[in-house]
Amino acid sequence: MTSDPSQNSELPSSRWFDPDSLRGFGHRSRLKGMGYDDEDFRGKPVVAILNTWSDLNTCHSHFPERVKEVKRGIWQMGGFPVEIPVMSLGEMMMKPTTMLYRNLLAMETEEVLRCHPIDAAVLMGGCDKTVPAMIMGAISANRPAIFLPAGPMLKARWKDQTLGSGSDAWKYWDERRAGNLCDESWGEIENCIARSAGTCMTMGTASTMAAIAESMGMTLPGASSVPAVIAEHSRLAVATGRRAVEMAKENLRPSDILNGASFDNAIVTSMAIGGSTNAIVHIIAMARRAGIPLTLERFDELSRTTPVLANVRPAGKFLMEDFFDAGGLRALLSELGSHIDRKCPTVNGATIGENIAGAEVIDPEIIRSVNNPVSQSGGTFVLQGNLAPSGCVVKPTAASPRLLNHTGPAVVFDNYGDLKAKLNDPEAGITADSVLILRNAGPQGGPGFPEWGMLPIPDHLLKQGVRDLVRISDARMSGTSYGTCILHVAPEAAVGGPLALVHTGDMIELNVEKRSLQLLVDDDELEKRRAAWKPAPARYTRGYGAMFLKYVTQADAGCDFDFLHHGADTPDPDIY
Ligand code: FES
Ligand code: MG
Repeated sequence: MTSDPSQNSELPSSRWFDPDSLRGFGHRSRLKGMGYDDEDFRGKPVVAILNTWSDLNTCHSHFPERVKEVKRGIWQMGGFPVEIPVMSLGEMMMKPTTMLYRNLLAMETEEVLRCHPIDAAVLMGGCDKTVPAMIMGAISANRPAIFLPAGPMLKARWKDQTLGSGSDAWKYWDERRAGNLCDESWGEIENCIARSAGTCMTMGTASTMAAIAESMGMTLPGASSVPAVIAEHSRLAVATGRRAVEMAKENLRPSDILNGASFDNAIVTSMAIGGSTNAIVHIIAMARRAGIPLTLERFDELSRTTPVLANVRPAGKFLMEDFFDAGGLRALLSELGSHIDRKCPTVNGATIGENIAGAEVIDPEIIRSVNNPVSQSGGTFVLQGNLAPSGCVVKPTAASPRLLNHTGPAVVFDNYGDLKAKLNDPEAGITADSVLILRNAGPQGGPGFPEWGMLPIPDHLLKQGVRDLVRISDARMSGTSYGTCILHVAPEAAVGGPLALVHTGDMIELNVEKRSLQLLVDDDELEKRRAAWKPAPARYTRGYGAMFLKYVTQADAGCDFDFLHHGADTPDPDIY
């Protein structure tokens, strides 16, 4: 170990701590005021731990312990750890939707890394949006950064049933509305369905995005599958801290790790795990930060050739803890063979191919082989048609096969309030053949692109035994959701997309095999309706919400702010 500042004058933090100047004196003296001395920090890589903990982020409640463990790893390698709290996006408590704030956390991550004496960062996230947000920010700041996933909760048990967060909440809520579940049972489920700290333990958005972070090379090997509260997760935290110090010394930055092939690996992984539809939006956003102009077409291409191998809810049967026990993501990536580009670099300095070498599938029922997949082609399909000129998505593995080719009359809800008010109104005339449409629920319309896309089934149909309908919206849906839900229709209704022009009773034709979504109304009539359409007044006229509405892009472009896409480098701060 060295405390000779001259040995690390290449570190960005040396600009703060080395100079024999009034400013250098100020920086050093204030660290000393915290009880540190030269031995602690002079000439050492400063590793920031960006922590998205809060008491209202239920998925990150173990982070205070993990921070101590990350620090232990940083000290072990002769680094100087500093914890920096950043915005905590907890899915359960934040309204109207965490998606409204993903870009705000991305901006905060980027700016925090640029304005402080930081040589490398450990990004601690997990709950859905924290993953893409922190990686987007780290890509733009282009500082050495390694992601530490929160890890999934342990699986839940109720009586003889294994429960998965999200997915089983929706399922049993439907049973309750159908009159099949008493108050006592419902209360028991509430008590047990969130078993521990950690993220949703289905293959929801959190588990999907963690797997994507690993497949892009942004985590240590195997990191994305480790349950949040087992000892191995603590050791992962320590190892991540250790590696961050080395990355600072090597100046191994996101631009050294991420390229077009790593984003292809991310897409293939999201398909092969039967991952959340939200991944599409986030992968595009991350890629565009890196200067890679990814479009929906690439998702469509790779979805056609990638088999779904993870038998995990909602597309399959098991939960993340089972997936971990079955060999975890390393085993799945290894099973994917040539679908994965093994040459891509990763944060540990090895290629992804080297990191997955020797990984073993312990249980082939949970991690399937390419010869015995959960389904032959990818988890999320991209559809096009006159109702979605810029595309929309569907997750056929979580849908009802009988509805994948369906023509039926539209029942239109103008916004979420309209849906709540009319869904159970007999006058709405909803039948098992209806195609439910929710509009003004997109990035601008929601606003913030909420997870309203799994429209509820009306009570009278639930009582008749109906559990799925074709549902179309410009919203997203939770990664733990399921059903024949067509999502992310772009352009959205709020900016005048064709979804705005649908009338109740219009026929809609869905053909997933042909990747097609058509509104069966002739062009002249649609032109008439378009001429009569007027945008709604903006929901936000001040503050962050107004900024969001001004700059957010549509779903097919990743819903980032347009001014945050890759561009000329932002200068480092001057230190006077
Ligand atoms: Fe945090 Fe699901 S609520 S991951
Ligand atoms: Mg979610």
